Amino acid sequence: MNRRRRIYEGKAKILYEGPEPGTLVQHFKDDATAFNNQKHDVIDGKGVLNNRISEFIFSQLNTMGIPTHFIRRLNMREQLIRQVEIVPIEVVVRNIAAGSLCKRLGAEEGTRLNRSIVEFYYKNDELGDPLVSEEHITSFGWASPQELDDMMTMAIRINDFLTGLFLGVGITLVDFKIEFGRQIEGDMMRIILADEISPDSCRLWDTNTSEKLDKDRFRQNLGGMVEAYQEVARRLGIFIDNERPGHSGPVLVK
Ligand code: TMP
Ligand code: ASP
Repeated sequence: MNRRRRIYEGKAKILYEGPEPGTLVQHFKDDATAFNNQKHDVIDGKGVLNNRISEFIFSQLNTMGIPTHFIRRLNMREQLIRQVEIVPIEVVVRNIAAGSLCKRLGAEEGTRLNRSIVEFYYKNDELGDPLVSEEHITSFGWASPQELDDMMTMAIRINDFLTGLFLGVGITLVDFKIEFGRQIEGDMMRIILADEISPDSCRLWDTNTSEKLDKDRFRQNLGGMVEAYQEVARRLGIFIDNERPGHSGPVLVK
């Protein structure tokens, strides 16, 4: 079926050659991995949900002037994106202590941070994506000081936007991870938001019950992952039609 050229395959997505130069097709798989691929499963329907949720968020970010790789959604699992050279840094923004922050610093999960924290991780599976400082990034040349500045400014704006968006639908944005790329057009180069923003890359808690509505359901073997992602989509007002035969719409996870 796929006669397109595969450019790259990651844990949760595949990139194919796009229809025009400078474009790619980003395909969302149902695969879920955690702890650097030590835990792996196929979660029926996850790719469709992440495609729709990420489309919704990237479209709004484009509208508010944050440049992103997103052009348009093509079908249930695929979107057309601009081709970029990925900056090998994962930018994490945290509002509430959870995950590796708790493990590393002994903070209690759920503690609101006095100010949002921006962290950088070097994208390298062999090294397990280590936490790095701005000095590491500029010294090793993974990004220039100007690029780092652009990424930080955008990360903070995205945090403000996402916090408000989710707050309005009864969801607390605990933290999230984003990635950026270099878009090259003629002799111009700029940093734009790439990859995805979805419940795979965010921590989202129900504001009233603190129920987890994100990939921690998979990481922590809580079950109900697709139902949780559907709930996020439903609250954002995203209509997901009958892509899961035998499953009749959103179910509130316990
Ligand atoms: P962490 O607490 O495990 O460092 O994760 C911080 C945020 O980044 C959380 O929202 C989950 C997200 N994340 C990814 O999207 N991919 C990853 O590989 C990791 C480790 C975290
Ligand atoms: N996506 C990462 C992995 O496979 C980890 C995570 O999201 O927890 O391993």
